[in-house]
Amino acid sequence: MKQRNSPKYQRTGTSLALPGFEMPEWKKATIFVVDDNAFFRVGLREILKSEGYTVIEAQDGRDALRKMRDTTPELIISDINMPHMDGYAFFQEVHANPQWVGIPFIFLSAYDSPEDVVAGKKLGVEDYLTKPIDYNELVSIVQAKLTRFRELRMVQLQQAYEASLTMLANAIEVRDSYTRGHVERVTAYALAIARVLGWSEADLNTLRLGAILHDIGKIQIRDEILRKKGALTPEERREMRTHPVVGAKMVERIPFLAACVPIILSHHERWDGSGYPHGLAGKDIPVGARLLSIADSFDAITTTRSYREARALETGKTEIIRSSGTMYDPKMVEAFLEAWKQGEIHRIAATWGRKE
Ligand SMILES: [Fe+2]
Ligand SMILES: [Fe+2]
Repeated sequence: MKQRNSPKYQRTGTSLALPGFEMPEWKKATIFVVDDNAFFRVGLREILKSEGYTVIEAQDGRDALRKMRDTTPELIISDINMPHMDGYAFFQEVHANPQWVGIPFIFLSAYDSPEDVVAGKKLGVEDYLTKPIDYNELVSIVQAKLTRFRELRMVQLQQAYEASLTMLANAIEVRDSYTRGHVERVTAYALAIARVLGWSEADLNTLRLGAILHDIGKIQIRDEILRKKGALTPEERREMRTHPVVGAKMVERIPFLAACVPIILSHHERWDGSGYPHGLAGKDIPVGARLLSIADSFDAITTTRSYREARALETGKTEIIRSSGTMYDPKMVEAFLEAWKQGEIHRIAATWGRKE
């Protein structure tokens, strides 16, 4: 996706990663080693320590659970046969706790007991180390597990941020005259169009964030203007039209959102140059903004606003076609029509109770 906007707002190549958030250094990860055999435990501890990890030892499942109340491990390596609480029971206890459920778990099994592996697989354990432990095998499996854990955490973190952003965006929507679900629908329509165009995961991700946040700048618009039923005065319109710039400013300093700034800033530009805030025309309008403006308008036309009733989806489509080449990039309109043909637009509308 190319952005031809001012250099200040050029995308920084954000993808799934969140450059604004430092992940812990995994060499310093805390690993629990749970085994009733002290000799074996110390052996594991020394190997892991020499690799830079922090190791906490426990004699059995019960002992480990007690210690986990003070320190949450990033990884657990556990023997199977232990007194008091064996490896399977311990694994189940860990998985029953929502705080611990994501912690990677490696079972240690005796070389001569493949039945252990079968039993563990039934519980959902994927990784086994067989005794005697091979140094290199141990180090590589630990590294792989921690990396996978980190990636999962990153994705979860991002999902949590997106959920908070959507909540914030919806809070603004409530102040506005928009109907419920505008943000979610615009996001879904925009992604459907982008998928027709074959956008990469990274670009879809940027588009998703841009769609969620496109009207975030309305937070600074007074209620009287946002909710006004009749036409706005020129002065009020000027104020309303500051929202893309305000929104872009709010978001530009947040590293993982910076890539979607061009979308927020330019979502009211028009293909023929008659839009705002900068009157950009044609391909000078960032591609994400050109795409989003179709999704945004389509939802505006087809849902109830304070100033009029919702119109049919078909009417929405006709309006988009009518403004191809004036308001919208004709290529984007084609992609929208393709998404329509594939039933995507109806499918999205239907999830909000529209059956047409
Ligand atoms: Fe807007
Ligand atoms: Fe909108």
